[in-house]
Amino acid sequence: MHHFALRDGVLHAEDVSLETLAEAIGTPFYCYASATLVRHARVFREALACLDDPLLAFAVKANPNISVLATLAREGYGADVVSEGEMRRALAAGIPPERIIFSGVGKTRAELAAALAAGIYQLNVESEAELVALGEVAAALRTRAPIAIRVNPDIAAGGHAKIATGKAETKFGVPIAEVPELYARAARHPHLAPVGVAVHIGSQVTDLAPMEAAFERLGTLIARLRREGHAVARADLGGGLGIPYDPALPEPPSPARYGAMVARITAGWGVRLAFEPGRLIVGNAGILVARVIATKRAGGRTFVILDAAMNDLIRPTLYGVFHDIRAVRPRPGQMVATVVGPVCETGDQFAEDRPLTPLEAGDLVALMTAGAYGATMASTYNSRPLVPEVLVSGADWALVRPRQTLAALLAQERLAPWLEERP
Ligand code: LLP
Repeated sequence: MHHFALRDGVLHAEDVSLETLAEAIGTPFYCYASATLVRHARVFREALACLDDPLLAFAVKANPNISVLATLAREGYGADVVSEGEMRRALAAGIPPERIIFSGVGKTRAELAAALAAGIYQLNVESEAELVALGEVAAALRTRAPIAIRVNPDIAAGGHAKIATGKAETKFGVPIAEVPELYARAARHPHLAPVGVAVHIGSQVTDLAPMEAAFERLGTLIARLRREGHAVARADLGGGLGIPYDPALPEPPSPARYGAMVARITAGWGVRLAFEPGRLIVGNAGILVARVIATKRAGGRTFVILDAAMNDLIRPTLYGVFHDIRAVRPRPGQMVATVVGPVCETGDQFAEDRPLTPLEAGDLVALMTAGAYGATMASTYNSRPLVPEVLVSGADWALVRPRQTLAALLAQERLAPWLEERP
């Protein structure tokens, strides 16, 4: 469910025409619908309503725009962050530290110290080495670090091998068999306070069975830790619930089904649960709007060349995944086209031999479901400035990140002193 729909033949974001936005700010640009953000935040909260005060920590990596974070902060969401940069953004957006979880497989000592100084809710520890480092950093700061051990449950899940994190052979988490010893070690440390366990097995998960299996393993682990005399007050179940990208495919399990499964598995755990949804909240709330630069026929194919490219939205080329492509003002009829960007790589392609409504140079198109892992994964490859982001709310819109100028792009760099004299 989202708020991008045709009105009088033109695609709108809520009450704002995408043609109007394109005129005002140029293309390409990302556009987010507040109504969809809020709706998804509420649907997920509703799905977990039977739990006692869960912490909903939005995975900032999915969309770190501060206005997006501030929208979710107003819905009572916290943040799951994986770098000091993400933590600073969450705080800047008004998310209180007591709703921030710091995850990630390789936190630096500087990041650990920044997280402790900010007084966040919890740090999810992913290795023995990190536990040792955090103990030292906390001792130096004369504080006690609230930690959860991220467990690797050895369960595969996720829409793509590159985003499956739950198998034993991945870099993520502590092997489940080693957790009791590490937990005991943390409990003995004067500057560490083990408060619970965490798990996250993958992203774009479209089958609840592996999640259920991972949560069951976590439940067994919690019972064992308690038998060994430890307090376990919290369990973080991560994110990962998939969303629909391709209208031709069956819908992934709903948040309500996920919530019912969680309630069933965790009944009797006696912990405060935390969740780290990213894609589910922002995926459908964003689109990338681009203009057709030209069309051409080559090798028996019709190519539609957009002014957006793989540097702006890398998901299709990185993971080979589907994003729906719609004309902003659809014409009657049909064409089959390969939709590409201007970057000098064959992989700079959004869709291959895709049935579309007819497109011509100058037309606007929307790449749908680009709110998660879209703008945040953009780069300036081919010296293309970072694309602006617009947030819509009803009939209002705001440029929440202006287009990077070429001057700003070049100003980042310095000439090496020995090159300053012209030959
Ligand atoms: N928690 C942790 C520890 C994570 O690593 C992730 C995602 C999440 C939560 C949020 O997962 P979500 O609910 O969004 O599935 N760039 C990829 C996705 C990478 C996901 C990485 N971790 C893509 O474009 O599909």
